[in-house]
Amino acid sequence: MKALVILGSRNPKGQTARAAEAFLRGVTDGGGECEQFFLPQMRIERCRQCEDNGWGICRTEGRCVIEDDFASLVDKIRSADAAIFATPVYFSDLSESMRAFLDRLRRTCMNQSGKAGIAGKKAIGICIAGGGGGGASVVGVTATLIDEPQFGQNLALGSFSGAPQCVQYCRDNLPPLRILN
Ligand SMILES: Cc1cc2nc3c(=O)[nH]c(=O)nc-3n(C[C@H](O)[C@H](O)[C@H](O)COP(=O)(O)O)c2cc1C
Repeated sequence: MKALVILGSRNPKGQTARAAEAFLRGVTDGGGECEQFFLPQMRIERCRQCEDNGWGICRTEGRCVIEDDFASLVDKIRSADAAIFATPVYFSDLSESMRAFLDRLRRTCMNQSGKAGIAGKKAIGICIAGGGGGGASVVGVTATLIDEPQFGQNLALGSFSGAPQCVQYCRDNLPPLRILN
Protein backbone atom coordinates (compact mmCIF):
# COMPACT_ATOMS: atom_id res chain seq x y z
CA MET A 1 0.00 0.00 0.00
CA LYS A 2 1.39 3.33 -1.07
CA ALA A 3 -0.40 6.27 0.51
CA LEU A 4 -0.05 9.91 -0.37
CA VAL A 5 -0.87 12.49 2.28
CA ILE A 6 -1.64 16.02 1.10
CA LEU A 7 -1.88 18.62 3.85
CA GLY A 8 -3.53 22.01 3.68
CA SER A 9 -1.80 23.27 6.82
CA ARG A 10 1.56 24.97 6.90
CA ASN A 11 2.34 23.88 10.46
CA PRO A 12 4.37 20.66 10.66
CA LYS A 13 3.64 20.49 14.40
CA GLY A 14 -0.04 21.47 14.19
CA GLN A 15 -3.19 19.43 14.65
CA THR A 16 -3.57 18.64 10.97
CA ALA A 17 -0.03 17.33 10.77
CA ARG A 18 -0.58 15.29 13.92
CA ALA A 19 -3.71 13.70 12.51
CA ALA A 20 -1.89 12.93 9.28
CA GLU A 21 1.01 11.56 11.29
CA ALA A 22 -1.33 9.18 13.11
CA PHE A 23 -2.58 7.95 9.77
CA LEU A 24 0.92 7.68 8.42
CA ARG A 25 2.05 5.62 11.40
CA GLY A 26 -0.79 3.20 10.82
CA VAL A 27 0.21 2.75 7.20
CA THR A 28 3.92 2.29 7.88
CA ASP A 29 3.27 -0.03 10.86
CA GLY A 30 1.24 -2.13 8.47
CA GLY A 31 4.17 -2.35 6.07
CA GLY A 32 2.95 0.35 3.70
CA GLU A 33 4.70 3.41 2.35
CA CYS A 34 3.67 7.01 2.86
CA GLU A 35 4.71 10.28 1.32
CA GLN A 36 3.41 13.63 2.51
CA PHE A 37 3.25 17.11 1.04
CA PHE A 38 2.40 20.39 2.72
CA LEU A 39 0.55 22.44 0.11
CA PRO A 40 1.55 25.88 1.52
CA GLN A 41 5.19 24.93 0.94
CA MET A 42 4.51 24.13 -2.70
CA ARG A 43 3.88 26.33 -5.69
CA ILE A 44 0.19 25.77 -6.36
CA GLU A 45 -1.45 28.79 -7.94
CA ARG A 46 -5.15 29.34 -7.97
CA CYS A 47 -7.11 28.65 -11.15
CA ARG A 48 -6.88 31.44 -13.73
CA GLN A 49 -10.27 30.76 -15.32
CA CYS A 50 -8.34 31.06 -18.57
CA GLU A 51 -11.05 31.85 -21.09
CA ASP A 52 -13.87 34.37 -21.12
CA ASN A 53 -16.37 31.55 -20.71
CA GLY A 54 -14.61 30.46 -17.53
CA TRP A 55 -13.11 27.31 -19.00
CA GLY A 56 -9.67 26.46 -20.34
CA ILE A 57 -7.74 23.48 -21.63
CA CYS A 58 -8.65 21.74 -18.38
CA ARG A 59 -11.97 21.01 -20.03
CA THR A 60 -10.69 19.85 -23.39
CA GLU A 61 -7.34 18.29 -22.49
CA GLY A 62 -7.63 17.38 -18.82
CA ARG A 63 -4.58 19.36 -17.83
CA CYS A 64 -3.82 22.83 -16.53
CA VAL A 65 -1.80 25.51 -18.34
CA ILE A 66 -0.14 26.75 -15.16
CA GLU A 67 3.40 25.48 -14.81
CA ASP A 68 3.77 24.95 -11.09
CA ASP A 69 3.75 21.96 -8.74
CA PHE A 70 0.15 21.00 -9.50
CA ALA A 71 0.80 18.48 -12.27
CA SER A 72 3.53 16.62 -10.40
CA LEU A 73 1.33 16.30 -7.32
CA VAL A 74 -1.54 14.98 -9.42
CA ASP A 75 0.86 12.41 -10.87
CA LYS A 76 1.75 11.41 -7.31
CA ILE A 77 -1.94 10.78 -6.63
CA ARG A 78 -2.11 8.68 -9.78
CA SER A 79 0.71 6.46 -8.68
CA ALA A 80 -0.54 6.08 -5.08
CA ASP A 81 -3.00 3.43 -3.90
CA ALA A 82 -4.76 5.92 -1.66
CA ALA A 83 -4.81 9.67 -1.23
CA ILE A 84 -5.39 11.41 2.08
CA PHE A 85 -6.46 15.04 2.11
CA ALA A 86 -5.93 16.68 5.49
CA THR A 87 -7.01 20.26 6.01
CA PRO A 88 -7.59 22.60 8.92
CA VAL A 89 -11.03 24.21 9.00
CA TYR A 90 -10.70 27.88 8.13
CA PHE A 91 -13.80 30.04 8.11
CA SER A 92 -15.97 26.93 8.08
CA ASP A 93 -14.28 25.79 4.93
CA LEU A 94 -11.12 24.25 3.54
CA SER A 95 -7.82 26.01 3.98
CA GLU A 96 -6.92 28.24 1.05
CA SER A 97 -4.12 25.97 -0.16
CA MET A 98 -6.36 22.90 -0.17
CA ARG A 99 -9.06 24.85 -1.94
CA ALA A 100 -6.65 26.02 -4.65
CA PHE A 101 -5.41 22.49 -5.28
CA LEU A 102 -8.82 20.84 -5.30
CA ASP A 103 -10.36 23.54 -7.46
CA ARG A 104 -7.86 22.78 -10.17
CA LEU A 105 -8.05 19.02 -9.70
CA ARG A 106 -11.81 19.15 -10.10
CA ARG A 107 -11.45 21.00 -13.40
CA THR A 108 -8.85 18.72 -14.96
CA CYS A 109 -10.91 15.72 -13.94
CA MET A 110 -13.91 16.96 -15.91
CA ASN A 111 -12.03 15.55 -18.88
CA GLN A 112 -11.62 11.83 -19.53
CA SER A 113 -7.84 11.95 -19.80
CA GLY A 114 -7.59 14.01 -16.62
CA LYS A 115 -9.70 11.45 -14.80
CA ALA A 116 -7.32 8.64 -15.62
CA GLY A 117 -5.75 7.24 -12.50
CA ILE A 118 -7.77 9.59 -10.31
CA ALA A 119 -11.38 8.50 -10.63
CA GLY A 120 -12.11 5.65 -8.28
CA LYS A 121 -8.97 6.21 -6.23
CA LYS A 122 -9.37 5.38 -2.58
CA ALA A 123 -9.41 8.61 -0.64
CA ILE A 124 -9.82 9.80 2.90
CA GLY A 125 -10.53 13.32 4.07
CA ILE A 126 -9.32 14.59 7.42
CA CYS A 127 -10.36 17.97 8.69
CA ILE A 128 -9.30 19.59 11.89
CA ALA A 129 -11.29 22.31 13.58
CA GLY A 130 -10.14 24.45 16.46
CA GLY A 131 -11.84 27.16 18.41
CA GLY A 132 -15.52 26.44 18.67
CA GLY A 133 -15.30 23.75 16.05
CA GLY A 134 -17.75 25.55 13.81
CA GLY A 135 -17.62 24.28 10.30
CA ALA A 136 -16.06 20.94 11.04
CA SER A 137 -19.27 19.17 10.28
CA VAL A 138 -19.50 20.70 6.84
CA VAL A 139 -15.92 20.43 5.73
CA GLY A 140 -15.13 17.05 4.42
CA VAL A 141 -14.57 15.17 1.26
CA THR A 142 -17.73 14.93 -0.72
CA ALA A 143 -17.82 11.95 -2.90
CA THR A 144 -20.12 13.51 -5.41
CA LEU A 145 -18.04 12.38 -8.20
CA ILE A 146 -17.70 9.90 -10.60
CA ASP A 147 -18.83 6.47 -9.62
CA GLU A 148 -19.78 5.73 -6.15
CA PRO A 149 -20.89 8.42 -3.72
CA GLN A 150 -19.17 6.63 -0.92
CA PHE A 151 -16.80 8.50 1.31
CA GLY A 152 -13.46 6.80 1.63
CA GLN A 153 -13.88 4.70 -1.43
CA ASN A 154 -13.62 7.06 -4.30
CA LEU A 155 -11.84 10.28 -4.74
CA ALA A 156 -14.19 13.19 -4.53
CA LEU A 157 -13.87 15.76 -7.20
CA GLY A 158 -17.13 17.56 -6.90
CA SER A 159 -16.48 19.71 -3.92
CA PHE A 160 -14.95 19.37 -0.52
CA SER A 161 -17.77 20.89 1.41
CA GLY A 162 -21.08 19.59 2.51
CA ALA A 163 -20.19 16.04 3.40
CA PRO A 164 -21.54 14.82 6.69
CA GLN A 165 -19.02 12.01 6.72
CA CYS A 166 -16.09 14.22 7.44
CA VAL A 167 -13.44 12.61 9.57
CA GLN A 168 -12.63 14.68 12.59
CA TYR A 169 -9.88 14.17 15.05
CA CYS A 170 -9.74 15.59 18.51
CA ARG A 171 -6.78 17.56 19.68
CA ASP A 172 -5.50 15.01 22.14
CA ASN A 173 -4.76 11.34 22.27
CA LEU A 174 -4.92 10.58 18.60
CA PRO A 175 -4.74 6.86 18.14
CA PRO A 176 -2.85 5.57 15.14
CA LEU A 177 -5.13 4.46 12.35
CA ARG A 178 -4.75 1.00 10.96
CA ILE A 179 -5.09 0.21 7.32
CA LEU A 180 -6.71 -3.17 7.09
CA ASN A 181 -5.88 -3.97 3.51
C1 LIG B 1 -7.67 31.76 9.46
C2 LIG B 1 -8.26 30.73 10.40
C3 LIG B 1 -9.61 30.46 10.35
C4 LIG B 1 -10.17 29.50 11.21
N1 LIG B 1 -11.50 29.23 11.14
C5 LIG B 1 -12.04 28.27 11.94
C6 LIG B 1 -13.42 27.94 11.87
O1 LIG B 1 -14.18 28.48 11.09
N2 LIG B 1 -13.89 26.96 12.68
C7 LIG B 1 -13.08 26.30 13.58
O2 LIG B 1 -13.57 25.44 14.29
N3 LIG B 1 -11.78 26.59 13.65
C8 LIG B 1 -11.23 27.55 12.87
N4 LIG B 1 -9.88 27.83 12.95
C9 LIG B 1 -9.05 27.07 13.87
C10 LIG B 1 -8.28 25.97 13.14
O3 LIG B 1 -9.15 25.11 12.42
C11 LIG B 1 -7.50 25.11 14.13
O4 LIG B 1 -6.65 25.95 14.88
C12 LIG B 1 -6.68 24.03 13.49
O5 LIG B 1 -6.15 23.24 14.51
C13 LIG B 1 -5.53 24.56 12.70
O6 LIG B 1 -4.81 23.49 12.15
P1 LIG B 1 -3.23 23.34 12.38
O7 LIG B 1 -3.04 23.04 13.84
O8 LIG B 1 -2.86 22.22 11.50
O9 LIG B 1 -2.61 24.63 11.97
C14 LIG B 1 -9.33 28.80 12.12
C15 LIG B 1 -7.96 29.10 12.15
C16 LIG B 1 -7.42 30.04 11.29
C17 LIG B 1 -5.93 30.32 11.32
